[in-house]
Amino acid sequence: MEIIKEINRDILDRNICLVPTMGALHDGHLSLIKEAEKTSLLTMVSIFVNKRQFNDEADFKNYPKTIENDIKVLDNLDIDYLFLPKNNYIYPEAGFIEINSGNLGKKFEGHSRPGHFDGVLTVVNRLFELIQPKVAIFGKKDAQQLFLIKEMIIKKNTEVKILEGLTFRDKSGLALSSRNQLLSARGKEKARLLYKILNEAKKDFLHNRELLVFKKFSSIYSNDDLKIDYLEILDSETFHTPVENTENYIIIIAAYIDGIRLIDNIEFRLEKL
Ligand code: PAJ
Repeated sequence: MEIIKEINRDILDRNICLVPTMGALHDGHLSLIKEAEKTSLLTMVSIFVNKRQFNDEADFKNYPKTIENDIKVLDNLDIDYLFLPKNNYIYPEAGFIEINSGNLGKKFEGHSRPGHFDGVLTVVNRLFELIQPKVAIFGKKDAQQLFLIKEMIIKKNTEVKILEGLTFRDKSGLALSSRNQLLSARGKEKARLLYKILNEAKKDFLHNRELLVFKKFSSIYSNDDLKIDYLEILDSETFHTPVENTENYIIIIAAYIDGIRLIDNIEFRLEKL
């Protein structure tokens, strides 16, 4: 594995499959890297903790940074490049394109984290511009992020194919996340409830066909240890409220546990209501 800080001509001549990350690597990231290895392309993992997507300074400071360990983990895999750019390479004074994530960028995650998705799209666009990958892989775990990235690519006509990685969970159903490292043992127990709530909300919806589940589940599950921020049933193809002929659904959840914000989602298909 070659560690690079800048992209040179040689790399631009290669066919790259990119897995963008912010480090603190876990098995969820590794599952995306395995997907990259399955392609016939050269694999590149990027690690860049993108300050622009943190609306809260303290959240940025507290975000786990484990670069030495990350390098060790990656060294044991079959990847070609680790891209570790400096902040001023990604964001040069001479300028870079700032992406506006539009209306959807202000909803759900974007509502509670203003500017978050503008920051995500800006860095992803910049990575695509610098690396010009043939393929890039993102996780379904961050469903709204994935949706907005796909939307941006279509709008900008960017030549990159997006592959979607399934959400990697532990045996209890907890979706792996770098932020899980910030939880206490008790917090981790509580975090398992997110997947349980998602499955119960799905069951509830299939039974009652009632979209407004937030109040019901907040009154059951929200307390001092766990605060549900949103729980929404959406059409996964539009990321809007389902309509009469919606067939593909997604339920998204965000909750605070020990003050740590966690997100998760489940998707399901349902023939017309
Ligand atoms: P980060 O949170 O490090 O996640 C990097 C990639 O791993 C994202 O595509 C995310 O969806 C995926 N991922 C995270 N947890 C996962 C899990 N349990 N199973 C499968 N995939 C998982 O997402 C970001 O970084 C940043 O916003 C980034 C896209 C790198 C832009 O800065």
